[in-house]
Amino acid sequence: MRLWGGAFNEPSDQDLQRLNDSIGFDKRMAYQDIQGSIAYALAIAQAGVITAQDAERIVEGLKQVLIEFESGSFVLRPGDEDIHTAVERRLMELIGPLGGRLHTGRSRNDQVATDFRLWTMRAIDDLRAQIRAMQVALIEQAQAHIDWLMPGYTHLQPAQPITVGHWLMSFFWMLKRDDDRLEQARRRTAVSPLGSGALAGTPFAIDREALAEALGFAECSQNSLDAVSDRDFVAEVLFDCALLGTHLSRLAEDLIIYSNPAFGYVTLHDRYSTGSSLMPQKRNPDPMELARGKAGRLIGNLTGLLATLKGLPSAYNKDLQEDKEALFDSCDNLMALMPVLTAVIHSLKLNRDKMEAGLSQDMLATDMADYLVRKGVPFREAHHIVGRAVRLAAEQGVGLLSVPVQALQALCPLFEDDLSESLSFAASVAKRQATGGTAPQAVQRQIDLARRLLS
Ligand code: ARG
Repeated sequence: MRLWGGAFNEPSDQDLQRLNDSIGFDKRMAYQDIQGSIAYALAIAQAGVITAQDAERIVEGLKQVLIEFESGSFVLRPGDEDIHTAVERRLMELIGPLGGRLHTGRSRNDQVATDFRLWTMRAIDDLRAQIRAMQVALIEQAQAHIDWLMPGYTHLQPAQPITVGHWLMSFFWMLKRDDDRLEQARRRTAVSPLGSGALAGTPFAIDREALAEALGFAECSQNSLDAVSDRDFVAEVLFDCALLGTHLSRLAEDLIIYSNPAFGYVTLHDRYSTGSSLMPQKRNPDPMELARGKAGRLIGNLTGLLATLKGLPSAYNKDLQEDKEALFDSCDNLMALMPVLTAVIHSLKLNRDKMEAGLSQDMLATDMADYLVRKGVPFREAHHIVGRAVRLAAEQGVGLLSVPVQALQALCPLFEDDLSESLSFAASVAKRQATGGTAPQAVQRQIDLARRLLS
């Protein structure tokens, strides 16, 4: 018989039980469930619902149940529908009918919301630690290669020269926003629903604020109907995971392209690339492809939950049980992925020669236009003139800087002999010193700021 079976003449159908039970996945909230119950027992004792001695025995029993979970000796029984009923069942086995007083004024509806918020707060802390580790790796590699030159792309077409430090730091800032979002989501997660009852609130004089504080929440919820069905925190964290995963996927995509022998800009360490069972020469960027692939499921977990939430009538509905596997999955996948990606970044070999070989003279076309701008030509006109020069170079089959000055002067008399010395890849990046630019000095300021933000 189920804990709630009083009004029922027959036990549940076995297939329904299999469908209905969530113990298979929510048992990983055992710690939070017991933590919540210990605080709740003390709160109802404080409110005079049970005696202090009874609360003490209940707390002792709950601690014993926790030991069983943590040592792996907890034995699930067929009637254990979810973590809440499993803990309560075991508590009553250990301390007798007194255990049945714990659930006074409480519902699994406020209980599950409490457990899952506590679990999510911890998961956010774990994710943020991973983000931070990756940011450190990016800063270290950016600092070590701060002034190395590489091609910058837009539309994946050669665009302008950039510095390697600048490229690497671009991912630092994506992660910074991901971290900010998680920090904010944590604040909205740290709201205690406990004491909301099934939907209408508790009839007992529980000090909900004190209960919230005892559990490490920042405040308690203000409306019981909202509190038992609010899964905004789950949706938010799923979004934060999806966007974090999207950023990791973009980093991965860069590394997939740059590690392709046609580019050769980077080499993944042996430990973080894989071979082919057939082709001996292959070095496959598997971890990068998994990062790219997992972004898809992270997005799916978010859209799945939103679809689940959108049609729910007020207060708790069993649909909400679908929230947990989505978040467990997103967090588990990121926690598996991020340490590997961080190690990939730490161990990444950057190939200076290949990167420099990837620079082509037409990537200085913008600088050539700027050269004319400095001599007074309006930019739009300069753009047009240099466009003609690019075409000329293509027709002659030479690089842009190899077109003779005389030929350029036919396009615009302001081209002079100083052109070739003022145009170089290093000079191009060195000019971009304004905040956010690719010049090594500007990148150093980014790195300094990034270090301050982490300290
Ligand atoms: N296993 C349920 C869940 O995850 C717990 C809450 C059940 N509440 C209820 N009224 N049946 O949502």
